[in-house]
Amino acid sequence: MAGQQKETGRSHWKSRFGFVLAAAGSAVGLGNIWKFPYITGENGGGLFVLIYLVCILLVGLPIMIAEIMIGRAAQKQPVGAFEELNGGKTIWSAAGWMGVLAGFIILSFYVVVAGWSMDYTLKSIVNFTQPIEKEAAAETDLFIATADMESMQNYLIDKRLADQARMGESLLEREISKRQMDAFARFQAAVSAAEDPEEARRRLLTDEELQQTVTHVEAIQQQMQELRKGIEEQVRADVTGISDETLFRQVRMEKRRELVLAKVGVTFGNLYTNGWQSLMWAFLFMALTVGVVAGGVSAGIERACQILMPTLFALICTMVLYGAFQSGFPAAVSFVFSPDPSRLKPSGVLEALGHAFFTLSLGMGAMMTYGSYQSAKTGLFQEALMITFLDTLIALLACLMIFPITFSYGQEPTAGPGLVFMSMPLAFAEIGTGGMLLSILFFGLLFFAALTSALSLLEVCASYLIDQKDWSRPQAALATGVITLLVAVPSAFDGDPDTLLGTWHADYGKGFFDTVDHLASNWMLPLGGLLIAVYAGWVMPRKLQEAEVKDIPSWMFQGWLFVIRIVAPALVVVVLLQKVGIFDV
Ligand code: PHE
Ligand code: NA
Repeated sequence: MAGQQKETGRSHWKSRFGFVLAAAGSAVGLGNIWKFPYITGENGGGLFVLIYLVCILLVGLPIMIAEIMIGRAAQKQPVGAFEELNGGKTIWSAAGWMGVLAGFIILSFYVVVAGWSMDYTLKSIVNFTQPIEKEAAAETDLFIATADMESMQNYLIDKRLADQARMGESLLEREISKRQMDAFARFQAAVSAAEDPEEARRRLLTDEELQQTVTHVEAIQQQMQELRKGIEEQVRADVTGISDETLFRQVRMEKRRELVLAKVGVTFGNLYTNGWQSLMWAFLFMALTVGVVAGGVSAGIERACQILMPTLFALICTMVLYGAFQSGFPAAVSFVFSPDPSRLKPSGVLEALGHAFFTLSLGMGAMMTYGSYQSAKTGLFQEALMITFLDTLIALLACLMIFPITFSYGQEPTAGPGLVFMSMPLAFAEIGTGGMLLSILFFGLLFFAALTSALSLLEVCASYLIDQKDWSRPQAALATGVITLLVAVPSAFDGDPDTLLGTWHADYGKGFFDTVDHLASNWMLPLGGLLIAVYAGWVMPRKLQEAEVKDIPSWMFQGWLFVIRIVAPALVVVVLLQKVGIFDV
């Protein structure tokens, strides 16, 4: 980014490749490896992923092109860009303003999670999974030494049945809608509360709709029960039939996994509930980010990206390969890729749209700002396509890396923001000595990916002060850093039970940082993106646009114009209005 721009005019990326690297660095971050897998888990997998992919293609990609185009034409960050192109302050400046605000909010929780990745890098260096592994092994040995044959068989039977029950649960959800389930629960409560249950039942069932629901649910429950009886017998026969040696081996594995899972959860919990520690790491991470943005050491970062990004990619591929040999792999693939309407949460569509913006760094001017540091008027479409493809690929691979582990260990995919910190160590623990190295690499690279994204977030806010208010670069970076860190305090204390914010969870149903993430990612980014799309499609002079895209066939430009004018705005408007409750879909 611009080091000495005051004297020499706006500085630019050294090469075309420099821009792609920086933009990809901004796009690929915690959004891909931390957030995408956990929201995919919370939103039920397949269908959510499909909607996300549609949003990427029809909304994200065209808006990425629009942002780079506007930034490059104006040679300014978002607030300045709209003023530059419109010859003064207009309503469009609001888009720029909202972008700066969204940047602050996103960065404020981003630094907390990035701080966790630093904490985990350090933990990995002292090989934190080793004691976990040792304790689990010792406790497993103790369990096996003190248990007789029969209780070991029973242990294995219970484990298998729990797995089956989990699968049955999702089967049940597929057959019975949420509404039916709620109605049935209310019906049961009313019946059991009545003085004369039989009479109450008869009276309530005169309602025809309710009667249908109750019949349907009871029939399915009946079926399930019979099925379960059959399965139970089957499992019992299977387990009692295996040899002693196999029994020992399987009990050992299951028990060890169960213990490791619990201990790894405790490790994350200790960090999450310690607000001061989270804040300390967030501070450290922020200091690094400010240092890079202020000092213009970004040239070094660009160069480091050339090595570290491919390394991250290779590491993820390695872990996907590892996952492919785990027992949970088939379940993971089907979870991520088979669309199942019954598992999608109602808020899933908005979340998928919001995440398409978040993951591609769109809707708040980050790509616009990076585009403004680009001089050569070449390769806008190809570059946008390349960045989008890379980002999407890494997000999908991250799911294929995490969920096989999740399912193999019987961990819930709905584990939430701690998912990546609680699943990856399971695998590293099992791999043993080499696992320590993989663990250091993984969390270290996650930290680095977060840094290159945080840079772009801070850059949007800082370059506003630099371009519009004539601040020096170090001043601007420091000021934005300090303010963001203040906003980050409540996010750091999100899980701390000793503070008011820790209780926010219980009172509000959502953590503080979930709440600000939701506000910024799912509302501000799509709204900002909508304004950018409308501006690029309907307001920006055609001459300016054509100057930016001289090198592509006209059908491609026309296609983009159609999508940015009609399709992308329409999709965003429909999703937002549906959420506001204007109409039912
Ligand atoms: N795209 C980044 C990620 O996926 C986050 C980000 C959002 C960066 C908005 C800049 C602007 O982690
Ligand atoms: Na991303």
